Amino acid sequence: MEVRVFPDAYGAALYTATLVETTIRQLSSPVLGLATGGTMIPVYQHLVQFHRRGLRFEHVTTINLDEYIGLEPTDRHSYHAFMREHFFDHVDLPLDCRYIPSGATCDLTAACQAYDEILRAHPIDLQLLGIGVNGHIGFNEPADHLKPHTHVVELTEDTIRQNARFFDAEERVPTRAITMGLQSILFAKRIVLLAVGASKAQAVREAIIGDIRTTVPASLLQLHPQVTFVLDEAAAQQLP
Ligand code: F6R
Repeated sequence: MEVRVFPDAYGAALYTATLVETTIRQLSSPVLGLATGGTMIPVYQHLVQFHRRGLRFEHVTTINLDEYIGLEPTDRHSYHAFMREHFFDHVDLPLDCRYIPSGATCDLTAACQAYDEILRAHPIDLQLLGIGVNGHIGFNEPADHLKPHTHVVELTEDTIRQNARFFDAEERVPTRAITMGLQSILFAKRIVLLAVGASKAQAVREAIIGDIRTTVPASLLQLHPQVTFVLDEAAAQQLP
């Protein structure tokens, strides 16, 4: 496992974006696993800037980690809307090469199976991850058991509270989500986890030097042969 610490969040996001850029330039048909959340916004801003300076996305496929259940893709709080606002609307990524789980369907089992088919057909070259203050990755929340494949998850109170900042009120945050599972995440050839800010310091410490356990889903990344943690100093403050 590689750990890169930058003086500030700007440097960490810029470095993360350059890792994505390198993958896009090196591969003829790269598949990116993408995350949403506040941490990722500056990464997408950098990628959009790179695009304005010539980086092309026309040969890229993207597969997002998760989506809230019950929100239409047109809902401004959905992760579909997040991706359009911060990334898709500003780059030349083909419409039919962007995958996000469908959280607005009545047949969630079929939606999960369909997403696993997509993942099987498009092995991920570079998986971008954020981390929850409780150590979640994607929406794989701390639990006694973790699921390997795409599944429906009940969000924890911690996560609902954290994500309330994106909604008008905490009561508006959906309580369930559909997320890629741990096996699918760990199947990516390379994983880059970006964490910034002191609120992530404990989760980062437990993920990197704690025991591997399902109550800290990010600690399972220790099992992967090519993981890079990209941190600012605040997120790295509890590391030895
Ligand atoms: C979202 C996702 C989540 C976030 C995590 C951190 O697609 O995968 O695991 O990465 O909740 O969110 P922020 O960056 O908002 O702190």
